[in-house]
Amino acid sequence: DWTMAGYRAEAVRRIREQVGDAKVICGLSGGVDSSVAAVLIHEAIGDQLTCVFVDHGLLRLGEAEEVVTMFRDHYNIPLIHADKSELFLGELEGVSDPEVKRKTIGRLFIDVFQKHAAEIGGAEFLAQGTLYPDVIESVSFSGGPSVTIKSHHNVGGLPEKMGLKLVEPLRELFKDEVRALGRELGLPDRFIGRHPFPGPGLAIRCPGEITREKLDILRKADAVYIDQIRRHGLYDEIWQAFVAILPVRTVGVMGDGRTYDFACALRAVTSVDGMTADYYPFTHEFLGETATRIINEVKGINRVTYDITSKPPGTIEWE
Ligand code: XMP
Repeated sequence: DWTMAGYRAEAVRRIREQVGDAKVICGLSGGVDSSVAAVLIHEAIGDQLTCVFVDHGLLRLGEAEEVVTMFRDHYNIPLIHADKSELFLGELEGVSDPEVKRKTIGRLFIDVFQKHAAEIGGAEFLAQGTLYPDVIESVSFSGGPSVTIKSHHNVGGLPEKMGLKLVEPLRELFKDEVRALGRELGLPDRFIGRHPFPGPGLAIRCPGEITREKLDILRKADAVYIDQIRRHGLYDEIWQAFVAILPVRTVGVMGDGRTYDFACALRAVTSVDGMTADYYPFTHEFLGETATRIINEVKGINRVTYDITSKPPGTIEWE
């Protein structure tokens, strides 16, 4: 009968059979899917695998360090950490259109990834953490109405462009099965249970122009919000939660002074697959406490709002 341990052994066997003694490169995003794919492939072929982690400077507080520590130090997986925040934030200067942001990030990502892949030399395969719903979605989208809400998949076309064959060991799995496989492979529970995080990162949680100042404020506010959610034991009930920093400053009063700082919006939704979503019904006590903490702990924010839009008509992200 079927067990995850059996699936793991079978997947390892198939990866070895497909790859032989060729080299494989894998783009790590810090998310669950690419991480589980990388650990599984490393188990199958060891140091024939090199991971490339393109750090676009749009990650959450402490996230880059976490990824590097886990893969390089804990799993001993060869890892290139391309710290490219200067490049990305430079190119994004003055850009406020959401689709231009996505396309700029996607283009730079491919450039950087290709350069580092070339350094490794002679890779024949590209590993991706594609899941079953991704396979289905790309099929139904191509036959469906031609309305693009958001240009999601940032690295589409990469394998053809680089002349690489694909290794996609998670293609038959749903998200919950990937999480179970990750646990089977010994990835920490806290990591496995993390909310999804979009490829363009904090860029699409910073409507309007992106500045280092806003990103810095956003990271701090987001960390406080997620800490609140964890402390109240709500993290696992929520599909995704994050802060968006709004492109507007508002007037406030603190102590006996006037403040003129950014407003932010808290977002939290429940969902099965991200296609539709309901806003999470926090208690007013929770919201009040969280607003107070953010305003007290994060310099640069003096107003907190809660986004009660479901999807549709809203989307989960603000851009
Ligand atoms: P929306 O905002 O479209 O989001 O309701 C649905 C899910 O997709 C994620 N998302 C993205 N993921 N690149 C990604 O890799 C993107 O450009 C992107 N836009 C949205 C979002 O976080 C949510 O989980």
